[in-house]
Amino acid sequence: MKIHLPDAVGACIEAIAGYFDAADLFYGHGTDSAGMEAQWLVTAVLTHDGVAGITANTPVSPGQRSRIASLAMQRINGRSPLAYLLQEAWFAGHCFYVDERVLVPRSPIAELVANHFQPLLEEAPAQILDLCCGSGCIGIACALAFPDSNVVLADLSADALAVAQVNIERFGLADRVSTCRSDLYDSISGAFDLVVCNPPYVPEDEFRELPPEYHREPAMGLVSEQSGLAIPLKVLAETGRHLHDQGLLVLETGYTWPALDAALPDVPLLWLEFEHGGEGVCALTAQQLRRYFPSQGQ
Ligand SMILES: C[S@@+](CC[C@H](N)C(=O)[O-])C[C@H]1O[C@@H](n2cnc3c(N)ncnc32)[C@H](O)[C@@H]1O
Repeated sequence: MKIHLPDAVGACIEAIAGYFDAADLFYGHGTDSAGMEAQWLVTAVLTHDGVAGITANTPVSPGQRSRIASLAMQRINGRSPLAYLLQEAWFAGHCFYVDERVLVPRSPIAELVANHFQPLLEEAPAQILDLCCGSGCIGIACALAFPDSNVVLADLSADALAVAQVNIERFGLADRVSTCRSDLYDSISGAFDLVVCNPPYVPEDEFRELPPEYHREPAMGLVSEQSGLAIPLKVLAETGRHLHDQGLLVLETGYTWPALDAALPDVPLLWLEFEHGGEGVCALTAQQLRRYFPSQGQ
């Protein structure tokens, strides 16, 4: 197949969307339709060339058309999420560097960051931990939302931490954001006002059935044993002793949330609602964690 493109942005987006639709791609990595994905691709290529004020009539040069066509072919033939091909992902209004070493950022926690975790937090958090940080998107977005905070980005994957470090430097945050290689809390010291955690929570059998785009992501970012619950349960059990008394845990378990809820019938997990889509994020205070997970609590 050869991709032919018109020479204006609007028509180019329409043409790419048509190729994507025909290829029956899966959208779940920052966009939810062929049209959105085509718009991102075309505007990103022009923006990387320094083109500003892009409208439907903005001309697309032959060189730009050839790059757009080549990226579209890679998207179609390789089923790679577009974020990896462009090496960028938008999260909480910020553009992060990403590649195949990290999951493509898409957590609904972005909406909580944008709202400064209101009404869950009474005060701006000074010490923040992003556990299972991947690209560092959640922790770095928190650092940008709370300019007086110090943030630790922790992950078991050295590859992921290398990407997180690129993002720390991209946003000029090296003075107050650091990385830590840790198997959950094993190498984490100190206590925090806010722990944000989007851990792996996909059951192994469900992972095998996911569309090809998900198999381009690191499996250790997605899969968790015990029907997806092993890592979320460990996080719940261990966070109490890493929070200050007024601290808060915000934990994502995505569509595994009903299973977690059923496994912990006595724990008052507060499932949050999102205006811009997403589900399966709960909040628990330090006091609740210590009460309901006492053996690890203090
Ligand atoms: C779902 S991804 C989330 C990445 C990022 N927080 C985001 O929202 O895009 C989960 C991350 O957890 C990391 N991870 C998996 N097992 C871990 C463990 N035992 N301890 C720490 N991090 C772990 C993976 O390397 C991956 O980066």
